[in-house]
Amino acid sequence: MPFPQRAIDDIRSQADIVRVISDYVTLKKRGSTFVACCPFHQEKTPSFNVHPGKQVFKCFGCNVGGNVFSFVMKADNASFMDAVRIVADKCGLAMPVEERTPDARQAEAERDRVLQLNEWAAEFFENQLELSNEGRIAREYLEGRGIERETVKAMRLGYSPDSWDSLTNFLRQRGASNSDIERSGLVTLKENGGGFYDRFRGRVMFPISDAQGRTVAFGGRVLGEGEPKYLNSPETSLYVKGRHLYGMNLAKEGIRKLGYVILVEGYLDFLIPFQAGIPNIVASLGTALTEAQVRQLRRYLDNPRVVVNFDADRAGQAATRRSLEMFLLHGFKVNVLTLPEGKDPDGFVRANGVGAYRDLLKTSQPLIDYLANIALFEHDVRNPAGKAAAVNAVLPYLVRIKDSIERNTAAERLADRLKLDDKLIREELRRAAVEQRAEITVERVTVSDSLTHAERQVLTALLARPDLCGEAFESLDDELIGILGGRVFFHALRDLYRSRQPFEYQELCAAVGKRHHSEALAGKNGQIDFFPEPDSRVYALDAELENMVAALLLESDHPEDQEASEKVQVNLRSGLDALERRRTDYRSSQLHAKVQMADRAGDQETALQHASDKLALRRQELAARIERMRRN
Ligand code: UTP
Ligand code: MN
Repeated sequence: MPFPQRAIDDIRSQADIVRVISDYVTLKKRGSTFVACCPFHQEKTPSFNVHPGKQVFKCFGCNVGGNVFSFVMKADNASFMDAVRIVADKCGLAMPVEERTPDARQAEAERDRVLQLNEWAAEFFENQLELSNEGRIAREYLEGRGIERETVKAMRLGYSPDSWDSLTNFLRQRGASNSDIERSGLVTLKENGGGFYDRFRGRVMFPISDAQGRTVAFGGRVLGEGEPKYLNSPETSLYVKGRHLYGMNLAKEGIRKLGYVILVEGYLDFLIPFQAGIPNIVASLGTALTEAQVRQLRRYLDNPRVVVNFDADRAGQAATRRSLEMFLLHGFKVNVLTLPEGKDPDGFVRANGVGAYRDLLKTSQPLIDYLANIALFEHDVRNPAGKAAAVNAVLPYLVRIKDSIERNTAAERLADRLKLDDKLIREELRRAAVEQRAEITVERVTVSDSLTHAERQVLTALLARPDLCGEAFESLDDELIGILGGRVFFHALRDLYRSRQPFEYQELCAAVGKRHHSEALAGKNGQIDFFPEPDSRVYALDAELENMVAALLLESDHPEDQEASEKVQVNLRSGLDALERRRTDYRSSQLHAKVQMADRAGDQETALQHASDKLALRRQELAARIERMRRN
């Protein structure tokens, strides 16, 4: 036992369990005990009790209970030793002298040493910013970015002079040894093994604190342009990447008070909104969000909620998606805020003010809406395979929602957002949500419902007059067929025409069956493959499709006279014209989606390009329409 038992007992008896636990959840007094919503399971009414007299806690919902140490061990995922340390620290009690292994003692001493050097370095950088001649450019830079003096003070911003050894000399003056300095991460070791030089030179310095406000590392930004834009401390005995959140020391009160946290990417994205009066914001510092960070946030929230407000660019979107999984896994309710014009929170608040930012926060999208919108861009949900693919893109997140009622609501919401009018898919989605399956398979794709009048017109005309197929299939190319609800019938007809088979019931059923089968497969993989190679197997056709084939054949029946044949040709023309208009609509909606995507990513040039393509398309369409009118 590394701590003497007596010392542990002392801490337990002196520590106030109510005080310690209220650092994690908001306790309300009820009679002789305190209650809260349990931090260890999801609940809406408090069943978590803390008894100050007995110095124990107990949750009647999930049956967890124990003393102050077991609470901290569980809440912080801490070892017993760390729990003792944390409790002593929180209650201002003297730490017992540890009976520790020499190794552990050395590691602890080394961490203390790095902490001390960081403290000195922070002080040095602050003074350089404040007082030195050279620091003036950094002061002006910060001013130019709208950072106020109080913020500089509160976050202990600084400046590292453009020199190889000024920090090193300062640390030596303070009494640091070479080996201390080497291990602090504040210097870069020379390649040839001889000595080191200041790691941060000519940069604005951002100390990275732990939640208690101790400086554990630094980030340094170049003044203006340059690579790398931000240079960070390497990992040290004190600093492990992905454990900390920038601003946590200042934001934890605000987070607790407001009951949710806003997560942003960069230093400035924290600083600017925070100084403008957003108290519950922290930055992940561009790295992928880690479990340790999420757990840390979880501690300050009874009913954990987060608004993820990463950059609108591609990297930001990817980071958003990754963070969502982590948050869901820890029971967070997640909203996503994407700022307009590709702005980051810093840029947005500076340009539009904090009021506008607050307004936008209120309109942040629930997780499902955000994911559904992306899925709508990435998949063509007008056909069943595309619908299934869109659902499958969102399901892995949806099934991570812990609360089953919330999960079902989310499934409903997803179905609405994706405009799933298809009963089959809705039902599949509902079942997947209940069973927490991350994928749906749509075996039976209902196509016949989605055949439009124009599609029927064209199909029956071609069945009636195969001699018109040659010309018709020139305009009925893969792109056009691909966007039609009756795709399988068009493909089947074209397959038969090309292989010179008769348009008869048996042949049609076989061809439709083949096409239908390969589409269902594509849907299963979550990919859209409109043009699968037909293979030679024969597939059983389901009754619905078979009925459709029969219906089309019956409709195509017409008297064998001149007048009737000509009418078929007129019908074909008008049907094909209608389908061409759908092609234009489709292309135009694709371009529209691209414009929006580029817009959101802040890529004005590409957005403009797509917008002008769209205009050209409209003009083309107009010309084609005039041509058709002239012809008729
Ligand atoms: P960004 O490139 O979006 O920078 O990186 P930013 O925060 O908008 O920076 P400013 O506004 O130009 O000053 C987001 C975050 O990713 C990390 C930093 O934490 C940064 O704040 N990052 C970025 C690095 O660590 N190194 C880099 O070279 C760039
Ligand atoms: Mn920025």
